Amino acid sequence: MEQLAQKVDGMSLDAIADKYPNCHPEINPFDFYRAHLSNVLADISGVDPKIIYPALSWTSSLDKGDLILAAPALRVKGQKPDELAKQWGEKFPDNDPLFVKPTVSNYFMAFYARPAPIVETVIPMIQKSGANFGNNKFLGLKDPKDPSKGQKRMIVEFSSPNIAKPFHAGHLRSTIIGGFLANLYQGAGWDVIRINYLGDWGKQYGLLALAFEKYGDEEALKKDPINHLFQLYVRINTEMTAEKEQIEKRKQDGEDVTELEANSLDEQARRYFKKMTDRDPDALAQWKRFRDLSITRYKETYARLNIHFDEYSGESQVSEEAMEKVGKEMEEKKICKEDKGAMIVDFQELVPGKEGKRLEKPIIRKRDGTALYLTRDISELLGRYEKYKFDQMIYVVASAQDLHLRQLFKIIELLGHKDIAAKCQHVNFGLVLGMSTRKGTVKFLDDILRDVADKMHETMKKNETKYSQVENPEATADILGISSVMAQDMTGKRINNYTFNMDAMTSFEGDTGPYLQYAHARVSSIRRRANLSDEELATADLSLLTEPHAVNIVRLLALWPDTVQNTLRTLEPTTVLTYLFRMTHALSSSYDQLQVVGSERELMKARMALYDAAHTVLGNGMRLLGLSPVERM
Ligand code: ARG
Repeated sequence: MEQLAQKVDGMSLDAIADKYPNCHPEINPFDFYRAHLSNVLADISGVDPKIIYPALSWTSSLDKGDLILAAPALRVKGQKPDELAKQWGEKFPDNDPLFVKPTVSNYFMAFYARPAPIVETVIPMIQKSGANFGNNKFLGLKDPKDPSKGQKRMIVEFSSPNIAKPFHAGHLRSTIIGGFLANLYQGAGWDVIRINYLGDWGKQYGLLALAFEKYGDEEALKKDPINHLFQLYVRINTEMTAEKEQIEKRKQDGEDVTELEANSLDEQARRYFKKMTDRDPDALAQWKRFRDLSITRYKETYARLNIHFDEYSGESQVSEEAMEKVGKEMEEKKICKEDKGAMIVDFQELVPGKEGKRLEKPIIRKRDGTALYLTRDISELLGRYEKYKFDQMIYVVASAQDLHLRQLFKIIELLGHKDIAAKCQHVNFGLVLGMSTRKGTVKFLDDILRDVADKMHETMKKNETKYSQVENPEATADILGISSVMAQDMTGKRINNYTFNMDAMTSFEGDTGPYLQYAHARVSSIRRRANLSDEELATADLSLLTEPHAVNIVRLLALWPDTVQNTLRTLEPTTVLTYLFRMTHALSSSYDQLQVVGSERELMKARMALYDAAHTVLGNGMRLLGLSPVERM
């Protein structure tokens, strides 16, 4: 690359990088191509190359070119864009080393990379960068020119299930999307902190503790805390509902129910939870045990999904003192006011126009003095800023909570922390429809993953020869099952609802998780059969790769770092997934044309180098999404 830069532009890579913002030709081939093209077009058009550089965009399919320019983007006055494009096209040198003469239609100029240079720069770059190809550690620097100033800090809050309640589809989506976003920012050089904000506080946990006192089973708790606590929770809730109906009935019959109410489960739960908020040691210890055991189980599931958290925070971790303090401040600043004994935020009074109306009138203290979900979020957010001084924070939460997060951010702003509110972002997502397990309607993540894994195991068994070569078929089936679920989740835009469809997601037909894994494993299998060393691939004669199929694969490979960068704008897993499927399609249609095993030795090496580069990029993309690429299946 360095040599090519000297030859093509008479500039070192560093000099090219310095000329344009966010330009890193040593890690992104397209930055090199854009820089070169900007130089050439600046000569032809007289336009400042710094205006040309960001106007060069990539295309949605290879037949439209590698880079495209819309002439109006260069803001040249006094001439029709169509004519400008035509003129510039004609003046474009015939002998440009990197591009053939552009194709002009209307005011669009489409540029096609010459095959040899792109093949001979991209493959070695991928060989050299390996698992880092696509990462760009400069983006997360506080000062891109001075790494000693340190990294920017990102908090991603995601997953956040509720203890003793089902880990439902919303939590699954948050887990998948959040894990992906954390990887994305980490690859972009940010200092990423992953926080799980558990639902683990409130009167219902007082009720749960009561249930454990009555019906709890130590053994069952230790063996399967999540299910045991859930069962207790369901049981006591049913009891409580029945009791409430009883009391209501007697009341209507004219009986005095004061005593009944005073001893009701509801009241006992309230008292128990009061002990918890008053920091009664026994009550707290019991509750902490439930929490710790649940976290231990969650961690096992997260590990299957390649996810870890730096902090298990949660509603319980927000202190009463902190909430009182903000409460007072809100009162002083007239952000909240009393309403029938409760404290509310009347946004309509605080925020003019439609927005104020949309934000409604949330309560932050109930009449009996208890804090709410929103109250805790306010303190938690400010606490996190104190603790981490983050540059940005993302909440990965279902779109059902859009209003809640808008209220939260607005309150932070009204408290005088406009700067902090501006660093917070809600990344939302739609619903999963039609999810159920063989046990019934309760959707525990573990059950879903097991069902899907079983299904994949059945499919694998159908091919006996292959099956016998897989070292640990259960583990592979588990990975394939997880890939199925994740790929389906990531196929559409986040905000879209989708229907959980076990048959579709586990199929090898179409753009599914198993198909992606298959495409990856297929390259591994070719590599095993070719039996070539890394050294042989590194020294392969890449000029032998002249077929359109080979060149097109390279053109797609070159797009990977740009795809990742674009994903930082969309924050959509589907941006990555769509790219990966384009890659798998290009690969699958090339196998007949570009045989490795059976070809003459030098050709075999060159083609294997090509496929190996594709293997690296597929693997990098899959890992970014949180998938574990398999080598055999
Ligand atoms: N535990 C909540 C639920 O299941 C999600 C928490 C979202 N995060 C937050 N900071 N409010 O609905």
